[in-house]
Order: sequence, then structure tokens, then C-alpha cells
Amino acid sequence: MSAQAGGVPVLILKEGSSRSRGRTAQHNNIMAAKIIAETVRSALGPKGMDKMLVDSLGDATITSDGRTILDEMDVEHPAAKMMVEVAKTQDDEVGDGTTTSVIVAGELLGKAEELIDKKVHPTIVIDGYRKAADKALEILEKIAIEVEPTDKDFLKKVAMTSMASKLVSENREQLAEITVDAILHVAEKVGDEYRVDLDDVMVEKKPGESMTDTKLIEGIVLDKENVHPGMPKRVEEAKIALIDTALEVQKTEFDAKINIETPEQMEAFLHEEENMLREMVDKVTSKGATVVICQKGIDDMVQHFLARNGVSAIRRAKKSDMEKLAKATGGRVITNLDDFTEDDLGYAKLVEERKIGDDKMTFIEGCKNPKSVAILIRGGTERIVDEAERSIHDALSVIRDVVQEPKALAGGGAPELEISRALRDYAESLPGREQLAVQRFAEAIETVPITLGENAGLDPIDILSELRARHDKGETWAGVDVFEGKVKDMKKLEVYEPLAVKKQIIKSATEAATMILKIDDVIASGRMKAPPTPPGGPGGMGGYGGMPPY
Ligand SMILES: Nc1ncnc2c1ncn2[C@@H]1O[C@H](COP(=O)(O)OP(=O)(O)OP(=O)(O)O)[C@@H](O)[C@H]1O
Ligand SMILES: [Mg+2]
Repeated sequence: MSAQAGGVPVLILKEGSSRSRGRTAQHNNIMAAKIIAETVRSALGPKGMDKMLVDSLGDATITSDGRTILDEMDVEHPAAKMMVEVAKTQDDEVGDGTTTSVIVAGELLGKAEELIDKKVHPTIVIDGYRKAADKALEILEKIAIEVEPTDKDFLKKVAMTSMASKLVSENREQLAEITVDAILHVAEKVGDEYRVDLDDVMVEKKPGESMTDTKLIEGIVLDKENVHPGMPKRVEEAKIALIDTALEVQKTEFDAKINIETPEQMEAFLHEEENMLREMVDKVTSKGATVVICQKGIDDMVQHFLARNGVSAIRRAKKSDMEKLAKATGGRVITNLDDFTEDDLGYAKLVEERKIGDDKMTFIEGCKNPKSVAILIRGGTERIVDEAERSIHDALSVIRDVVQEPKALAGGGAPELEISRALRDYAESLPGREQLAVQRFAEAIETVPITLGENAGLDPIDILSELRARHDKGETWAGVDVFEGKVKDMKKLEVYEPLAVKKQIIKSATEAATMILKIDDVIASGRMKAPPTPPGGPGGMGGYGGMPPY
């Protein structure tokens, strides 16, 4: 980039930098965002397809989870990255609806572009979209169904809806039972409301057996075994020491040389080391610990002494697990063995090493804090348990959402139709061009029922016109029954979703779309690789390689 000053070019950006401005920048960004939305479209809903994503090492992930698809895709275009962020925000906030939020954002941008092409200024579109989003949130609140936050049957239905669109859908009844139990177990009542911290539910997975062997454990599961085969496999009334320092003699940081001249000196040296290790063991056992869980390594000699004292020990536990263990067992993580007292010990009724599949895992049950729970996922292969873990995350999230904000909506595109209907009325009250933006928002949101229908092999025009007609007649919950291929009352079909998820979809999609629309200048430093020209020349879409330039 350069400017001319008296005939001499003035360089402002480094060589290799590129810049696109105005309509070109906007067009490229919108196109990139739309391509992202297009890629996840076919994954929406119970009839959506899964994606197989292969990383640079050749490892495959099979999933229909919007966030995972985008995370694994490793996109480079900055606007496309913003779309990936939408899915991430959606997931972090409410844990479900990631695919929908990306599709809606893409559609909002597509409709915005039509208006911009008709010379409507992007600022007007942005204002219109913001107003439309506020109105949409109002509508959702208005039609939401109030529920009892601890109504187990209802929560199960919400969990089952979120799992209906996943690989695990066959087992969703059983998994819903497990996930609802887990959340109700950890929910805490604060005033009139309930609070849930998903970190309190530990999720472990181990390939093998089948999904029906997935279990809820009242306590904690560690994917670890005793460090020494001579240690007890079962410790009842366990007193647990949680240690985050290595049970080893610390090596000096620099090379040191010790001159040993006589065999006695050699013996004394070794003896000293052994004494130090023995002392370490004494510090732990003298306080009554019967189980040691160490975040770092444990010296062979220490292992041996602990085993001889009938203490079982686990090494290299994850830091996050140490925190969970502390919370569950009521113990404190010890950094310095010299400060260790009996009060720091955690308690569990039973600590047991069990063989699960080919591996051994440690179960810590009947913890001091009865609120701690774990889910141990089983399933045919590693890919299945991985996808099950993601689906269980979605299920746990939606249950939490409803427990914390006890309002729900019936799904299948019904709420989206209510929004679009209300927005068309609302648009009438607005001045000219903003009216157009609100109308486009209404059209964009209808992409949800359209896509659900399309993925089920239905004709989008038929579905949409029937849906509009039924909603006009006052059927609030008319939506797409993807299994029967008909428009049906989603409330009767008990397809329930949290209000929080739908609200977040509106918020994250609008935010992303308006943010992308506001950009009219893209200055890319030379560091960034220029995207490859797609086969078929510029404008052609070489699959995913067909990202537009910046
Ligand atoms: N039985 C059903 N009939 C019709 N629609 C359904 C049914 N079950 C779920 N849906 C709809 O499917 C949509 C959710 O699909 P899906 O779970 O694939 O995407 P998402 O929740 O947006 O994203 P992700 O789960 O990947 O984070 C919702 O609109 C929901 O109402
Ligand atoms: Mg979902």
C-alpha cells in the first residue's frame, strides 16, 4: 500500500500486505461467512448428517456438533473465523444450538447483502437487525412455557431433544435419565433459584462394552491405576492425601559432581537418599492417609514403602481432577509435605481399582461431599465414545439451562415461525428502509424450519407455506415433524428446548452478522498466506478451498 507525495511513493504497509475496501471487502467477508454456514447446514436436526473430519495426522472425528465441526476445520479467513467464534460463544454460554446460530448468522448476512445490493446502507441494515433481534427475544419470552426446575420428566424430554440429532439418539432415553440425575445431584438452591456448575459433573470415557453400559457414579472416576501392584485394590473408609508435589528426591538444577572415594561413602550417600524418601512416606502415613493421589511422579522406592504400609497410590493425576477431588472428598491439595496435617485429608467411603475394558480405573465413591457425581461413558469404539461425550455435554448443558432458567420452548422450527410472523407485523410500524431490514431478518430466521425440512428430504416451499398458514391460525407450536415428514404440534410431540438456547441463538447470530456487516476495510499484513485460487478460477468454489480473498 502506498501513496504518492510529489511523485515519490510513500510506503505505509509492508510489502506483501493486501487491502480490500468498501463493497469488495464486504462482499468477500459475507461470502466467507456464508460458506461456513453452508458447511454445517446439512448437520442440523435429527435428520441431519454427520461429518467426518480428518486432521493433518489422519485422525478422523465423526460428529454432527456444530462447534466441533468448525473447530476441527482450521479455517483461515478472518470473517470465517468470526463465524467459528459464534459457535464457540453459543457453546460456552448455553452448550447447544451451535449449528443453528451459525446457519442463522449466515442467512442474516445473505439477506443483508441483497439489501446492500439495492443500495441500502449497511448501518441501516445493522440498526434494523438489532431492533428485530430485540423484538425476537421479546416474542420468545412471551411464548415460553414455564416449567418446574426440578421436574425430572420434563428435563428428560429436553435432554432427549438435544440428543435426538446425535449419533447417540438410539440410547437417548437411558442417557437422558443419567444426565438428568447428574444435574439434579449437583444443583444448588440459592434463594428461589437453582445454580448448576457443570464442572461438578465429571465425565470420563472408556471405549469397550456398549453405550448401554454407560453409568452414573456417585463420586469420582479417575482413568488411573495404582502405581504399584502390591498396593490394596480396595480401601474402605479411605483417608485421602491429595499431593501436588513430586514424591521424589529433587534433582539439582545444574550438574553437580560428588567425589566418592570409599565404599562406605557410597553407602552413606545411598542411605541418605533412602532416608529422605522414607521420611516423605512417614510424613504421609503418620497422618493416617490410606490413599495417596499425587499430581506429579512417585519414586519407585516411595511406591515400595507405601505398598508395604498398605497405602494405595496414584500418580500424575490431572490438575483439574485434583480440584474436583478436593471438592468431592473435602480434602485440601498439599503443596508442601511439611505443612501437611490430618485436616488436609479427604474422605471417601470406598476407593477401588476396577478393571474396565482392558484398563484399570479408580473409583472414589461415597465422598464426603455427596454432591459429586461422574458419568462413565462406554461404547463400541473410540470415535463413538468421543461423540457420546460431546452429546452428553449438550444434554448436561440444556438440562442446566432449564434448571437455572425454568422456561422452555417446543422446537422443530415452531418458535422461529412465531418470530417471523411477529416481525412482519412489527416491520409495518417502522420507516421505509429499516422496515426492509426487519423483514429480511424475519425471512432469515425461517431458515431453521426450512433447513430441518430440507434435511429430512421435504420440500421447503410446501413446508414453509403450511407452517405460515398454521401459525396464522394461532397454532403457536406448529413445527416440522422430521420423522413423519409433516407439520405437527411440537408440544404434543414433546420436542422441548431451553428458552436460554433459543435466546442465545438470536443474540450470537445477530452480533456476528452485524459485526461482519460493519467492516468495510480489510488490511491484511503480508504474514498471512494468500488463499489458494480455487480450481475453475476466481469465483469458482473448489469445495472448502473456495474461500473468498480477504
Ligand atoms: N423430533 C424433532 N422433530 C423436529 N425437530 C427437532 C426434533 N428434535 C430436535 N429438533 C430440532 O433440531 C434442531 C437442533 O438440531 P441440532 O442439535 O442438530 O443443532 P443445534 O442444536 O443447533 O447445534 P448443536 O447441537 O450442533 O450444537 C432444533 O431446532 C430442534 O428443535
Ligand atoms: Mg443440538
